[in-house]
Amino acid sequence: MNIANSPDLFSNAVSRHLQIPNGLDGERHAEARRMLAPFFHPPALGALEPTLARIAADLVGGLGEDPFDAVEDLGVVFAVRAASAWLGWRDDLEPELIAWVAEHRAAGCSRHPEQIARSAAGFEGLVRMLIDERRGRPSCDLTGLLMTLRWKGRRITDEEVVSILRNWTGGDLSSLALCVGVAVHWVATNPDHFGHLVASDDAALDRAVDEMLRLDDPFVSNRRIAVSDTVVAGCPVGAGEEIVLDWRAANRDGGVFADPGSFDPDGHGPDNLVYGVGPHVCPGRGLATRQLRILLRAVMTAGRPELIAGHPPVREQPPSAGFRSLPVRLAPQPTALRG
Ligand code: HEM
Repeated sequence: MNIANSPDLFSNAVSRHLQIPNGLDGERHAEARRMLAPFFHPPALGALEPTLARIAADLVGGLGEDPFDAVEDLGVVFAVRAASAWLGWRDDLEPELIAWVAEHRAAGCSRHPEQIARSAAGFEGLVRMLIDERRGRPSCDLTGLLMTLRWKGRRITDEEVVSILRNWTGGDLSSLALCVGVAVHWVATNPDHFGHLVASDDAALDRAVDEMLRLDDPFVSNRRIAVSDTVVAGCPVGAGEEIVLDWRAANRDGGVFADPGSFDPDGHGPDNLVYGVGPHVCPGRGLATRQLRILLRAVMTAGRPELIAGHPPVREQPPSAGFRSLPVRLAPQPTALRG
C-alpha cells in the first residue's frame, strides 16, 4: 500500500508502449483520469444496468440444465457482450472478440514477447477498424464520444484512443471472465451461503463478491519502477529497479486480516485490495462490480451452481490465477429460494 500510495517514489512508466492512464505519472496521469472519469460516472453506469441484466438473463437462460464451463461459456461471453454494449460495438464482432480473449490469455501465460505483440497487434487492428467506421459515420456511442475528447489543447489522437480502449477492454475482458469463474466456484463450493446470497440486496451482494475475489484474487499483480534508491520493507531497492505489487498476497496478508481465509464481507471490506489503491486505483470498479453482481444474480435465479463429478476445475497457472476451466451445472432450486 505504501508503494501504491507513493507515486513520487515509484513510477508507473514500466512499459515502452503508450498506456493511458496506466503508464502515466503525476499531473499527466491526473489529467488523463479527469478526462476519462465521465465515462465511469455512476448514473451512466446505473443506466446500463437493465441492458446488462438482459444480456445476463439471455446468456444464462440459454445454458439450461446441461454442464457448461463457467469461464469460457459464461464469463468470457458475458464479458464480451457487456463491454460491447457499454462501448457501442457491433454484435457481429463477438466471435472475433472471443477468439481474441483466448489469444490474449494464452499470450499472457506464455510470456513470449512475440506472442504478446501479435495479440496486441490483433486488438489494435480491430479497434482501428471501429475508429475508421465512426470517422466515416460519426456515432454518439461511447467509442465515438471518446474520439471527440480534447486533451493537451488538441483533439485526442487515434493512437491515444487505441491505448485507452486497450486498457478498458484488453486485459479486463479476461479479468472479468476470471472473476466470474472465481465467484461461481465460491458459490458452488459454499452451498450453505446460497440462500442468504440470493436474498442479499445489491450492496450486500457487491460486498460478498468483493470478498470472494479477495479470497482468490484472479487479478494478480502490477509493476512499479523505483525513481531513486530506497528501501522497501527492509529490502534495499536501487533506482530503476522494478517492483511487483502482488495483489493476491496483499489480499491474504495475515498482518492485516486476522483470519485471511475466512469469509467476512463486512469485516474485510475496508482492507480489500482487489481493485488496487492509490492514484492508479481501478476506475472500472463500478462497472466491473455491476457486471459481476448482475451476472451472479442471473445465475443464482436460474439455479444453484454445482461442480460436476469427474470433471474437476482446472486452475490457471502463474503468472495468471483463477480458473482456466470450471465445469458446473445449475441445479434448479425451489422457487422460494430463488427469491
Ligand atoms: C474485472 C475486474 C477488475 C479488476 C479485479 C481490476 C483490478 C485493477 C487493479 C488492481 C488496478 C490497479 C493497477 C495499479 O495500481 O497499477 C486496476 C487499474 C485499472 N483498471 Fe481495473 N480491474 C477490473 C476491471 C476493470 C474494468 C472493467 C475497467 C475498464 C472498463 C478497468 C480499467 C482499469 C484501468 C484503466 C486501470 C489503470 C488506472 C490507472 O493507472 O490510473 N478495470 N484495475
